[in-house]
Amino acid sequence: MILGLETSCDETAAALVTHDGAILTNVVSSQAELHARYGGVVPEVASRRHLELVTPVIREALAEAKAELGDVELVAVTTGPGLIGALLVGVAAAKAIAWARRLPLAAVDHLHGHVASLYLQPVALEPPFLCLLASGGHTLLLDVRDHGSKPRVLGTTIDDAAGEAFDKGARLLGLGYPGGAEIDRLARSGDPQAFDFPVARVPGLDFSFSGVKTALLYAVRDKQAAWLEAARPDLAASYQRAIVRALVERTQQAAEQTGATKAAVVGGVAANSELRASLGGAVLAPLPLCTDNAAMIASAARYVEPLPYPGYLGLDAYASTA
Ligand code: KG4
Ligand code: ZN
Repeated sequence: MILGLETSCDETAAALVTHDGAILTNVVSSQAELHARYGGVVPEVASRRHLELVTPVIREALAEAKAELGDVELVAVTTGPGLIGALLVGVAAAKAIAWARRLPLAAVDHLHGHVASLYLQPVALEPPFLCLLASGGHTLLLDVRDHGSKPRVLGTTIDDAAGEAFDKGARLLGLGYPGGAEIDRLARSGDPQAFDFPVARVPGLDFSFSGVKTALLYAVRDKQAAWLEAARPDLAASYQRAIVRALVERTQQAAEQTGATKAAVVGGVAANSELRASLGGAVLAPLPLCTDNAAMIASAARYVEPLPYPGYLGLDAYASTA
């Protein structure tokens, strides 16, 4: 079995996955509450918390699967992109376990991990397919040709990521962090046509979400607290509608342009209920695998050339792909 570790942002996660993609256990410890009072992830606070959580989370994953370290055949870890200090905690833990047990180690790219959330049972999607990856840090339309190689980027955001737009919008509405799930919840009781929040149309298959955030800012600034309180569900519903529309339109456009017969959606924003309902026909990553987790990292490791013992001791993490 494969032990996967993920510590790129504010989730400390460990999972055990079989070589044929069955999830034995998928433990995620979210630090969201720790960062909520700051309105976003504080990198240094995240690194320190990962350090406290990584061992207990791995122990919990092993206990849940009634497994021991001796059952692990491959250790997989996210090496980037993400918060560098946070990544280093996972990489150090993975190296220590792999080295102590003379195991190979697979270095996994976080974005490859999100796509590989589709390769786990029971979904087990087969490439080729068009993939919308929408998370807190990325918004990408990918042409996925096979399980392992780097997909061609058909479109990306020229400014904010979709999840970032949700989080910043939530902040303007006085909701908690992370904001995507909060907006999703509130939007259910609001009117999506109450406000008109235009999303900028950029050429090609790219996205832009900074304008819609500014439109929300203009709608709420200088307003009385009582007005905001009453309008909040309508604001959330209209704002969510604008972001979802942009994602859906672009995905459909990309499918037409590439002639893709299969489309899929992954990443934290793929948990959004309106997006899931609007992308009829697309393969949706299962809800627990949308936001950051280690099962997707172990899944991706199945398609990565592992580094043999002990060649990975000099392995480094990277903050960005560029
Ligand atoms: O994939 P993820 O866990 O972390 C990154 O790799 O960034 O994505 C987190 C993002 C956050 O921006 C969060 O607000 C958003 O996913 N998110 C949602 C929902 N659940 C999480 N956005 C919209 N609706 C949701 N239900
Ligand atoms: Zn992610």
